[in-house]
Amino acid sequence: MVDTQAVRAEFPILQRSVYNRPLVYLDNAATTQKPRAVLDRLSAFYCKSNSNIHRGAHFLGDEASGAYESARETVRRFVNANHTHEIIFTHGTTDSLNLAADAFGGWFISPGDEVLVTEMEHHSNLVPWQMLCKKKDAVLKVLPFADNGTLQMERIESALSSKTRLLAVSHVSNVLGTVNPIKLITRLAHERGIPVVVDGAQAIQHIPVDVQDLGCDFYAFSGHKTYAATGIGVLYGKENWLNEMPPYQYGGGMISSVHFGQTSFTETPFKFEAGTPNIAGAVSLEAALEFLERIGIQDIAGHERDLLDYAHARLQEIEGLRVYGQGADRSGVVSFNLEGISPYDTSLILDKMGIAVRSGTHCAEPLMQHYRLSGTIRASFAVYNTREEVDRLVEGVEKAKMMLV
Ligand code: ALA
Repeated sequence: MVDTQAVRAEFPILQRSVYNRPLVYLDNAATTQKPRAVLDRLSAFYCKSNSNIHRGAHFLGDEASGAYESARETVRRFVNANHTHEIIFTHGTTDSLNLAADAFGGWFISPGDEVLVTEMEHHSNLVPWQMLCKKKDAVLKVLPFADNGTLQMERIESALSSKTRLLAVSHVSNVLGTVNPIKLITRLAHERGIPVVVDGAQAIQHIPVDVQDLGCDFYAFSGHKTYAATGIGVLYGKENWLNEMPPYQYGGGMISSVHFGQTSFTETPFKFEAGTPNIAGAVSLEAALEFLERIGIQDIAGHERDLLDYAHARLQEIEGLRVYGQGADRSGVVSFNLEGISPYDTSLILDKMGIAVRSGTHCAEPLMQHYRLSGTIRASFAVYNTREEVDRLVEGVEKAKMMLV
């Protein structure tokens, strides 16, 4: 069980009022707030250990390099990767997926090949593959979802043709909250020799993730949605692929020798981390993952599932309100609309009541096109949210309905 009040006390920002009302922060899928442990670790890094890394002939350089590599090992442990060199630090999920599309896709995909994505992808796990296909003269194919927000798994066997070379799928939809069956999808893809790239941006902070158990070839996530600082992310990749793939960007820190006629590159993960990385970000991510380990990801999953089910039930008591995403396995977010009322107007009224939600297309326009929507209101949960906050959301939505009808 999560002791929510004790957890809340670790987040200074949750003491804030906005518009003279206590803040109800339900925009965690966009970014989470930061616990004291993360803030303190960032401050300690800059106050005591700040230096560039892996270049160094001095004490602070060694200390900062040690902190950065310790963070890599903590990420490895958290996702249960086989090796620390399978963990690449990036700027976030978008950067991780662009790295996968550019370095892996660019090397692996040939003209006429097919890349399969799903209809529920965030643009970050769609547009890089679309651009790759255009560049390579390959074909982007789409696995649709059903109106209840779950993937049409009965169509996956036919979607995986003899030409499919890669499958990209989100672990949890950032709009529907659907938890996709990654283990099954990976098994079906691997039976046909097709590697799988997973966008884990909305999963890693909510449910246990074990990349060896899932079996996927790549797994991407962001630090800032996982209680860490902005500008840090991770791409996990299987060692065999990372060894084969060319670098993504070129510059300092990723070469083994440079001559005007020829350059050779160092090994993974360093060959994918050109330039000075986000050292403080990595250190903050280590603190954030330790925070999650301390609370316990299973307990977090249970607490957030309770909040999500409670929110689904209470919101659906409101007449004329439709919730999108009714799959049995859900996590993190609830998206909804009031019949005939703009989601933008509703969220403006909620904001004035101190309730932070997101409205719009949530960077998933093809998903909106499925439902013929211009947007939804999305409430998204974190470990510090409470049932009382869900009650305030429901009251706010009811009030907005009264004002806008
Ligand atoms: N990708 C983030 C979201 O879904 C920003 O809100």
